[in-house]
Amino acid sequence: MKKLLVDNAIEAMGRAYAPYSGFSVGAALATREGKIYLGANIENSSFGVTSCAERTALFSAVAAGEREFSAIAVVGGRGGEIKDFCHPCGICRQALSEFCGPEFEIYLYNGREIKTYTLSELFPESFSL
Ligand code: THU
Repeated sequence: MKKLLVDNAIEAMGRAYAPYSGFSVGAALATREGKIYLGANIENSSFGVTSCAERTALFSAVAAGEREFSAIAVVGGRGGEIKDFCHPCGICRQALSEFCGPEFEIYLYNGREIKTYTLSELFPESFSL
């Protein structure tokens, strides 16, 4: 599953719209049933409007009716070249925490190895109402 999700994240990265930062990100989100939703970062000339790859994938999946997720893979790099791990930003961690439990897995790939985290490791003591 890890390799499959990472491969999907790499494919998704190819769809990034990142003319301002030049930094492409791809994400592949797996539902508990094994369906995969892709996301890429989509930038905007009003910078704050930009959507990260993780939220693009999450919101596509939720809009398609999904509510239960098992893992997400994230890759990124300048010009789409994967050299380092691309850690999800704080807003995306909060967005994932709305739908994903503490055991939800996050796979990061730097072009050589896959690092695995749980959501509770990357986003402990999270806010919820
Ligand atoms: N970006 C993501 O897509 N995901 C993250 O978790 C961090 C940042 C995007 C947003 C922006 O288009 C570019 O990377 C540079 O910040």
